[in-house]
Amino acid sequence: MENMSSINSREIGTLGIFHIKRLWAMHVKGLRCDHENEGVISQFVVDGLELDTREVISFLNETKPTFSDFEAWILNKHERNIPSVIKEKVNRAVSSFLEVGPRVYPQSLEIEDPVFSKEDMEFWEKNGYIVLRNAIPLEDCRKAVNIMWDFLEMNPDEPDNWHERSEFFWIRNYQHAIFRKNRESLKIHKAFAQIWGTEALFPAVHSLSFNPPAKDGISQYGPSYLHWDASIAMPMPLDVIGLLYLNDVDENQGAFQCVPGFHHKMESWLASLPEDVDPRMEIRKSSEAVNISGKAGDLIISRQELPHGSSLNRGNSPRFVQYILKHPPDRGINPVWK
Ligand SMILES: [Fe+2]
Repeated sequence: MENMSSINSREIGTLGIFHIKRLWAMHVKGLRCDHENEGVISQFVVDGLELDTREVISFLNETKPTFSDFEAWILNKHERNIPSVIKEKVNRAVSSFLEVGPRVYPQSLEIEDPVFSKEDMEFWEKNGYIVLRNAIPLEDCRKAVNIMWDFLEMNPDEPDNWHERSEFFWIRNYQHAIFRKNRESLKIHKAFAQIWGTEALFPAVHSLSFNPPAKDGISQYGPSYLHWDASIAMPMPLDVIGLLYLNDVDENQGAFQCVPGFHHKMESWLASLPEDVDPRMEIRKSSEAVNISGKAGDLIISRQELPHGSSLNRGNSPRFVQYILKHPPDRGINPVWK
């Protein structure tokens, strides 16, 4: 029997891609992580291969495939041809991370033709979130929304049917060229590049969401409580979330909400809490969250320190969102989960 602990990140199978054998062995054979940054490597390999992390993890955990089945599954996701540029990009990132380790961000690269002005960046520093207006063309928003209506098998003119689906809020594992096109937008790339201070970014494949108006004041789709997606052990390395509005979203239309500027006071706020108080429960009581309205095509980027969620949709129209995130593969992760 193969000694699993001897599988290193550079070991390749027939696809010639670093680390995927270790990733497979961790989920299927119980191989333990070597070090705290192993999760970072797994994440950027999955991102680099343009796969949805949740889909990869559930495939591995639920199906327990052989390694060659896993490789075949990846290959099928690329319609049986993984471009060599993708393989090289992933392998280069793995090698570089193994040799150099994580870097601290933001780096200081000046982005050519930046999309955010000096004033925009001052707003970002102060508030911890920023909005890129008209990140993608209106025409692409309309296409994306129509595709989502079709996928949901719902009619924009029949609000009574908007609550019929059993899947709530998230639309997962949905692939269409338009969402890829949005992810590859140069403007969006530049926005993230300005925030991270580097052009070397990997896009993550993320979900879409559908947030219809609450019915009778109640919504099975949301709202989500104010929360953090990341570990809140201090200090938190720079990390962000990003969402693209695909239709016009008023403040009361299930808009993204966050607590502006929380990154400046998070540490003292945490320190001020009695020991028996759970910060993740306490933050739900905050009255400082603001709803961020936007037009179709606006991209919101928010620091992970900002408590955030989706607000209750009290409007008449649904909110359509594509989550878009680009990050440098060698960013550090918080070594402690809290
Ligand atoms: Fe979140």
